[in-house]
Amino acid sequence: MKRLKIGIIGLGIGEEHISGYKRHPACEVIALCDLSAEKLRSSKEKYPHLMLHRSADDILNDPDIDIVSIASYDNYHYEQVVQALSKNKHVFVEKPLCLYEKEARHIRSILRANPGVKLSSNMVLRKSPRFRYLKKTIEKGGLGTLFYVESDYNYGRLEKITEGWRGKIGFYSVIYGGGVHVVDLLIWLTGGVVIEVSAYGNNISSKGRFKYNDMVVAILKFKSGLIGKVAANMGCVFPHFHTMSIYGTKATFVNGFHKGLLFESRDLAKKPREINKAYPGVCKGDLILSFVDSVLGTAKAEVTEEDVFNTMSVCFAIEKAAKKGRPVQVDYI
Ligand SMILES: NC(=O)c1ccc[n+]([C@@H]2O[C@H](COP(=O)([O-])OP(=O)(O)OC[C@H]3O[C@@H](n4cnc5c(N)ncnc54)[C@H](O)[C@@H]3O)[C@@H](O)[C@H]2O)c1
Repeated sequence: MKRLKIGIIGLGIGEEHISGYKRHPACEVIALCDLSAEKLRSSKEKYPHLMLHRSADDILNDPDIDIVSIASYDNYHYEQVVQALSKNKHVFVEKPLCLYEKEARHIRSILRANPGVKLSSNMVLRKSPRFRYLKKTIEKGGLGTLFYVESDYNYGRLEKITEGWRGKIGFYSVIYGGGVHVVDLLIWLTGGVVIEVSAYGNNISSKGRFKYNDMVVAILKFKSGLIGKVAANMGCVFPHFHTMSIYGTKATFVNGFHKGLLFESRDLAKKPREINKAYPGVCKGDLILSFVDSVLGTAKAEVTEEDVFNTMSVCFAIEKAAKKGRPVQVDYI
């Protein structure tokens, strides 16, 4: 069997993609790339058999490479995705797919013109055993009809936006960079379609050390009447955590650090059911297996191209609503 050859751009989280591909028998990682000479030096010791490049072009133009994993800084994603797709390479891109709606529309048009090429993005919280259990419980009717769902992305690492690359690139959105995970989770868990959003943001926490909002909160109006709330809270004094409360007519799920709780009664004396499934309990390369299966045509990706554009469409609407200070209809890409 001809193995698919993989090139990975960016060796922060991108290093965790290596193990994702290694777990798939049809894949062979052949090349890595990083801008940093220091990263390349340490990678030479760790991966002596792999080609190491400083320029992403060496991966994007390599005719032997079938799949490109993009884990560069957010501002490079668009041009690298476009370059890879134009060379008929499949793409697994870190979130966010890109930074502007017009870029997403352009990427979608390339994919529509070339349906054989696959794209997915790393919405890895879908692999969390606790959230998977919750999804199954919702699907079986265990929570009844959902009427209100909320999830906050509490980053707990303010210095990453005030000191690191996130604060230095031309534009950074905490919704695209973090909130995207909880937007995706709520859409995936509920199976709902968001039609309108309202949003507000501020940057009080970073006190002038970050140019953009470090906190954005949004209300999501779903087609079914369900209401959602998400926040990307990069400035919080709180450990990295995804708060979540899912309210249904029969039960309420609340996420906790060590366990989830399922409240099936309004009576305080009745103990909630404990959900001890691991959280987050994921490796960052966990979605790669199903993505590769989708490339091989043997299974559907757990995060499809449609999912990526739907989630990004809602995120673009949130960013627009926060900027305009009024509700915005979601314009699906
Ligand atoms: N899915 C997730 O849960 C998750 C978690 C963290 C980061 N991310 C995403 O991964 C991407 C990278 O973030 P990170 O936390 O790994 O950052 P990082 O700073 O830890 O590592 C990024 C690495 O990529 C290299 N790089 C950046 N741009 C490059 C380019 N154009 N060509 C070659 N190398 C390049 C840098 O030199 C650096 O070594 C971001 O888009 C981020 O949003 C996703």
